[in-house]
Amino acid sequence: MRILLLTHSFNSLTQRLFAELREDGHEVSVEFDIADSVAEEAVALFAPDVIVAPFLKRAVPESIWRRHLTLIVHPGIVGDRGPSALDWAILNGEAEWGVTVLQAEAQMDAGPIWATREFPMRAAPKASIYRNEVCEGALAAVREALSQVADWRAGAWAPTALAAWPAARGQWRALIRQTDRRIDWSADTTATVLAKIRAADGFPGVADALFGEPCHLFDAQPGTAPAGTMPGEVLGRREGAIRRATVDGAVWIGHVKRSGSDHPFKLPATLAFADETAALPVLTGDAEAAEIGYRESDDGAVGFLRFDFTNGAMSTVQCERLRDAIETAGARPTRVLVLEGGRDFWSNGIHLNVIEAAESPSDESWANINAMNDVCLALLTLTDKLTVATMRGNAGAGGCFLALAADEVWAREGVVMNPHYKNMGNLFGSEYWSYLLPRRVGEDVGRQIMGDRLPLLARKAVALGLIDECFGATPAAFAAEVARRAEALAADPSLASRIADKQARRSADEAEKPLAEYRAEELRHMQRNFYGFDPSYHVARFHFVIKSPQSWTPRHLARHRDLGWQAPAAKESAVT
Ligand code: COA
Repeated sequence: MRILLLTHSFNSLTQRLFAELREDGHEVSVEFDIADSVAEEAVALFAPDVIVAPFLKRAVPESIWRRHLTLIVHPGIVGDRGPSALDWAILNGEAEWGVTVLQAEAQMDAGPIWATREFPMRAAPKASIYRNEVCEGALAAVREALSQVADWRAGAWAPTALAAWPAARGQWRALIRQTDRRIDWSADTTATVLAKIRAADGFPGVADALFGEPCHLFDAQPGTAPAGTMPGEVLGRREGAIRRATVDGAVWIGHVKRSGSDHPFKLPATLAFADETAALPVLTGDAEAAEIGYRESDDGAVGFLRFDFTNGAMSTVQCERLRDAIETAGARPTRVLVLEGGRDFWSNGIHLNVIEAAESPSDESWANINAMNDVCLALLTLTDKLTVATMRGNAGAGGCFLALAADEVWAREGVVMNPHYKNMGNLFGSEYWSYLLPRRVGEDVGRQIMGDRLPLLARKAVALGLIDECFGATPAAFAAEVARRAEALAADPSLASRIADKQARRSADEAEKPLAEYRAEELRHMQRNFYGFDPSYHVARFHFVIKSPQSWTPRHLARHRDLGWQAPAAKESAVT
């Protein structure tokens, strides 16, 4: 079918649908929901069989849904309606939640139901539930809905009206307000504070105050506090986070946004309040809340290095810490080192928010890309054991190439990679990609991957040879299988010869062209991106960080706007 994805932005769910539906053999194009007239134009140009709206912030124009089958993905159970579905589900402590595909009609989210999926809720930020459970459920529900379209057209199948749905427990819920989210530090328990912050994370955060300054709180994790602390008191810091006391413990707050400041976007808490937090004690404990953690298998043969940087963004100091952790893990008497990125993102490369907040974004970009390269180098030169990058979550830009610096790359099913840099103001990119990419897929495919600027399913990446394996339908299944495979690798009698081969290949590659030369070439381009007269990267980064609304759909996504595109005979469906 010809499917138009009408969406507010090309977010994780839209990327996943785009890539999966294309793999299913559909012709897929994307239009951002900018204005009614633009959406109408896209529909006229593409003449879609069906419009799927995975992520909208406003209603689909009547001029569209009356004439074309339009399916809305709503992140809620059947009957749930309104713009704050997941926020309320988390705040209300729902044990089960869902995602529903319904047909657009005059009343928002109240159209007939085409398909739905339910899932158990997890104690996690809203954005994480969205990227994982909602995304998986939505894909299954959209596939089911699409499988009914032919029968629906033939009059052999009809979606179920909400009123006819048996025991729908969802209901209309109004837009959530900051007063609904407000934390009462003198009364709210750790569990309540966590639920309130998680229900607002990644957007818009919970309006609160720190050090007497208004700010929004994000990225909360449970913590402990010594007896006798005052609820609301800031107890100390670690990495970018601060620990704040509650009535029955504490929470770690990783990120804050200071709306009235020079940098009104999300930043690590200790950076947003640099002066106020500088003298705070540096705390230990609460290992689960730390960004980096290391453990070994029972027999000591496999090391697991976890690095869970919020949103996969890696600032200069985070890269330095990770490089040190790789070196420390590298010195252990293990045979295999497994690198586990974050649960939601493996890595998304340099930290664009921290760069934007720096006195000199050019200098900070330069420091960050060099620190990122040092992480890659630490992996590339770890030649006395086998390294495995395991992508539990999505990866973008430099983060993808960081994974390729490992000997093996395994990804969870459903992971989406964006192994290209150009979307960020035509950035050339570094992370030794000019060495790592062709050595895995050859020059031509490498050029194509970089040039297409499209999301790539992990499954497809395996087929192209970009990564090695893709398995595990759920994060738990993936983790269990990673442990099993890593331990099998470590016990494999051929491991010693694999490591010897790897050392020989690294030496041969180094003799042919030293890593330092690849790095210097890439950085020459990056220097122009950062310091040259063309400001594209700085402009793109600024708009990315402050989340400027889209003003047009990029041509590589809006295929119906390609010059060569011929509109097929328009297929209108008398929807009503
Ligand atoms: N630096 C800082 N923040 C980043 C980031 C980065 N490199 N990459 C992603 N983020 C943040 C986003 O701003 C967003 O923040 P939010 O929590 O306020 O919503 C969050 O991570 C999730 O990103 P989003 O874009 O919503 O996720 P996605 O799954 O829809 O898209 C990418 C993933 C990778 C395509 C997209 O985030 C992206 O293009 N990131 C920039 C990659 C890049 O250019 N890195 C620099 C070059 S190495």
